[in-house]
Amino acid sequence: MSKKMLVAYFSASGVTAKAAWKLSEAAGADLYEIKPEIPYSREDLDWMDKKSRSSMEMNDPASRPVIAGKMEDMEQYEVVFVGFPIWWYVAPKIINTFLESYDFSGKTIVTFATSGGSGMGNTNDKLAPSCPGAILLEGKMLNGVVTQAELKAWVESL
Ligand SMILES: Cc1cc2nc3c(=O)[nH]c(=O)nc-3n(C[C@H](O)[C@H](O)[C@H](O)COP(=O)(O)O)c2cc1C
Repeated sequence: MSKKMLVAYFSASGVTAKAAWKLSEAAGADLYEIKPEIPYSREDLDWMDKKSRSSMEMNDPASRPVIAGKMEDMEQYEVVFVGFPIWWYVAPKIINTFLESYDFSGKTIVTFATSGGSGMGNTNDKLAPSCPGAILLEGKMLNGVVTQAELKAWVESL
């Protein structure tokens, strides 16, 4: 694919960051980290605690955690890969914030994720209302060892 591509990702504990870096290398894409204005602490990420920040955000449909900074030149990209850890079977709410921060209509968005074992589930259904007019493609889990060859083949198949 000779289109201008971006790999944008959020990673709370570094796993998705590694996958995003590998994907950007394989795709020849630029890399952008979606950084929360307030970083997530260990307590924030405690899924056993119903009152933790992540639990509260994921239970609140209106939650849109604030992103630090903004990309100036999003217009130049035709394909945007969006990566994140699976939280409660879907994408963290900050991904909705990201998608709602730009006009992605007419662009192709490809999701990818890492998790403790669950798949993409209905992740894209939850993201679609946040990127009206975009072509939102079926995402891919990038858990474990994924070779550069596999990633390249995936990117070329899109
Ligand atoms: C709040 C929270 C909820 C999670 N929910 C799930 C889940 O539903 N299914 C799953 O397999 N893993 C779940 N995980 C595990 C993460 O998806 C997994 O550790 C991921 O690779 C972390 O990526 P990161 O290091 O980029 O943040 C959850 C983790 C957190 C912090």
